[in-house]
Amino acid sequence: GGLVVKNVCFIGAGYVGVPTAAVIALKNPFLRVTVVDRDEFRIRRWNSAHLPIDESGLSEVVRITRDGSKACSMDAVEPSLPRQNGGASIPARRPNLIFTTQTAKSIAEADMIFICVNTPTKMTGLGKGYATDMTAVESVVKEVAANAKTDAILVEKSTVPCRTAKLVQDILETFRPRARMQVLSNPEFLSEGTAVKNLLYPDRIIIGSSNTVQGRRAGAALAKLYSTWVDRSKILGTHVWSSELAKLVANAMLAQRISSINSISAICETTGADVHEVAKSVGLDPRIGSQFLKAGLGFGGSCFRKDIGSLVYLARSLGLEEVAEYWNQVLVINDLQRSRFARNVIQRLNGTLVGKKIAILGFAFKKNTSDTRESLAVDIIRALLNERPAEIAIFDPWCSPANIQRELASLGNHACIKVYTDPYQGCADSNAILVVTDWDSFRTPSPADERNVVKQPQKSDTAAFSTLAAPTQSASTFTGVEMEQYLPEPACPENCPECKTSFIGFNPDEHLEWARISYHMRKPKLVFDGRDVVDAAEMERVGIKVEALGRAD
Ligand code: NAD
Ligand code: UGA
Repeated sequence: GGLVVKNVCFIGAGYVGVPTAAVIALKNPFLRVTVVDRDEFRIRRWNSAHLPIDESGLSEVVRITRDGSKACSMDAVEPSLPRQNGGASIPARRPNLIFTTQTAKSIAEADMIFICVNTPTKMTGLGKGYATDMTAVESVVKEVAANAKTDAILVEKSTVPCRTAKLVQDILETFRPRARMQVLSNPEFLSEGTAVKNLLYPDRIIIGSSNTVQGRRAGAALAKLYSTWVDRSKILGTHVWSSELAKLVANAMLAQRISSINSISAICETTGADVHEVAKSVGLDPRIGSQFLKAGLGFGGSCFRKDIGSLVYLARSLGLEEVAEYWNQVLVINDLQRSRFARNVIQRLNGTLVGKKIAILGFAFKKNTSDTRESLAVDIIRALLNERPAEIAIFDPWCSPANIQRELASLGNHACIKVYTDPYQGCADSNAILVVTDWDSFRTPSPADERNVVKQPQKSDTAAFSTLAAPTQSASTFTGVEMEQYLPEPACPENCPECKTSFIGFNPDEHLEWARISYHMRKPKLVFDGRDVVDAAEMERVGIKVEALGRAD
């Protein structure tokens, strides 16, 4: 028979660890899922109403799995959906998701352990700027070697260099000579902002294992956890090296498309072609496809830069200099976007920012996330600071000012940088506004936008909950439980000062009033649109001149 997995442990309560653990717990109600982290503050918040990460749908999944839920009617969860099985109900469920800092104990109890710690780029030493910093992975594997059951299965969920499984196996053998632990690779492909949706409806699940009977048995045990909600045809078993490399290649190929179209945006600005028209024209060829062809300030976020760096380092260490250079060029073009943008801002303001105020709209690396890591704004601000502006004003509808300040720490202390929670105050008296994040609320509303309300993706994403609370295993234990209406509660009070900024003067569900902003700007009223967010003709009506990336004047 197959291996029986009753207890799993996720190490690393971050953007990947918690959403993955929570969805696996949701879909396997009889599995006990423990998430550990060494960061006590983070664990305390996962145990509170104030979750440390904003992801659409995550608070609902965490609440159901962490706190358990009473039996409920499906209609109450998602009233807009067609009634399933004549309005079938969701059985009650006991809590099966636990957050704790007790690493050793949780590892000791687990049949399967997922490594979900961060794997950033090394900042010093051998391979700095490219190689992966394996410190966290190494320390976790040592803890596993010291505490795990002899036949526990160790799963690499973090993105790691190709052949890490060998390194892991070597550490295990050194510190636990007689253990029979199997190492699997199961990379994660979710995107921030849509994590829960991506996990509920994955394109594929890749499970890499060693090519032995034990390896394949371990892989099958992991596949079983997914098969409670993912079609078997989407679960692909590979060799462990292929799986590790496939994750880096997936990110490199996605980022490569962005750099490809961004390289064309530079040509457009001097020829008069419009990069968005070019992208649309080429993307209509189904062999090319339309996704990931949006030109802009380049890719930010915690993964693309570091994963391509890791691929470049791998190629270099194999002596494949041309291959390394090929992928490195994706990073070169990516950085070029921000330097070209900053240079254009300075030139259009007559080559000097002295005495001027520059407002930056958006700090998150993309819309619908409050993650401030690898913000595209930082490179731009660094370039502008050299010109000694009077003020750089930053506003983001979701990122907390404290996180923004922390991310800016690498720039040193600059009294001229201010973070605002009201966009109108942030933009008042500015000589130029830079649109850095593609937030819908920054868009000039189109006639299709009802009144002034932003179409929030969160609303439609809740369709993902059609299958959300329905356990797929037999729920016979719960028969006879009194049926009650399941009433979703907000995870925390609105405008909770613990979780988010209280949005004084701005509701992120509404469009910015550009006319109001224009009225308080200094001349020339310039908006530099780095994300194809505003409509130049609409803006001209309110007296603003738009400089758009990838389009000539
Ligand atoms: P994160 O920084 O949000 O979370 C990592 C967590 O690990 C932190 O809470 C940290 O405290 C904890 N940690 C570090 N060392 C530890 C230790 N020794 N013991 C216990 N806990 C420890 O990182 P993330 O964004 O979730 O990324 C994790 C991994 O997943 C990375 O390898 C990343 O490349 C990969 N990944 C991320 C995404 C994404 O969208 N963020 C998507 C796919 C893959
Ligand atoms: C990315 C991948 O999309 C995920 O599949 C992967 O799992 C993840 O990295 C990871 O390994 O961490 P994420 O970084 O969350 O996810 O966000 P993306 O939506 O990919 O956007 C990355 C950056 O590229 C953003 O700054 C975005 O604005 C930019 N982008 C994206 C463009 O400039 N143009 C595009 O056409 C698409």
